[in-house]
Amino acid sequence: MAEIPSTIPLEKIPQHVAIIMDGNGRWAIQRGFPRLAGHKAGTENLRRTIRSTVEFGVKYLTIYAFSTENWGRPPEEVQGLMFILQDVIDRELNELHKEGVQLRHIGRLEKLDPKIQKKVLKAIELTKNNDRLILNVAFNYSGRDEIVCAIQKMIKDGIAAEDVTDEMVNKYLFTAGTPDPDLIIRTSGELRLSNFLIWQAAYSEWFITPKFWPDFDKEEYRRALETYAQRDRRYGKVSSAELQESNA
Ligand code: IPE
Ligand code: IPE
Ligand code: MG
Repeated sequence: MAEIPSTIPLEKIPQHVAIIMDGNGRWAIQRGFPRLAGHKAGTENLRRTIRSTVEFGVKYLTIYAFSTENWGRPPEEVQGLMFILQDVIDRELNELHKEGVQLRHIGRLEKLDPKIQKKVLKAIELTKNNDRLILNVAFNYSGRDEIVCAIQKMIKDGIAAEDVTDEMVNKYLFTAGTPDPDLIIRTSGELRLSNFLIWQAAYSEWFITPKFWPDFDKEEYRRALETYAQRDRRYGKVSSAELQESNA
């Protein structure tokens, strides 16, 4: 396929993109397939998306793969998703490592099957010195759970109340060391956060696409980045253009 020329200036490429990969089930149902077929197709798309992320020059990618609430789905689907995670690690790890991807996990690892835990830890260890792309995989993750976990750890460490600052909280989150997401993409048109990065998303920009996750391709990804490049991030202040005008 011909490469679509990029019109995005380098300084406007987000440092960190986070994706809520939603709509696998509906993608499958529309085709008369079982929901798990949608998750498989979603996984295929993840491989392509990681590659595109590297090509676009984005340094951090966080993907929402399984929420703590997703345990409430039918057991076959939960089991299927657990299998897919292991299968992805088995099949993709070496390739990701070769491409310079550093894998990290965010969420409660200790609540997963010990076999999965071992695989995840091995993948983290193998790729820990890679720096082409930092890939955070949110698996058994929820934003509230992350904050609860951070508070518990701070109390255990005996942190004094007056020492609890914004920066301190950041250090205790699963995402410690990762900058906040600049851009959050959600597929399948849903307009909600679904317990994803609730602390870190304070000033993130949003791109919502009606496309289901398996159909989210490089062209749509580029559209998301182009839209982001047009945004005026004010962080509660006034825009820099306005400020220059009022100073003139
Ligand atoms: C997202 O797709 C993947 C996971 C939550 C694991 P869904 O499975 O939520 O797909 P829909 O939203 O039901 O279509
Ligand atoms: C969010 O999608 C979780 C993941 C993408 C892993 P859900 O499909 O679980 O979220 P809701 O139920 O639509 O809010
Ligand atoms: Mg969904």
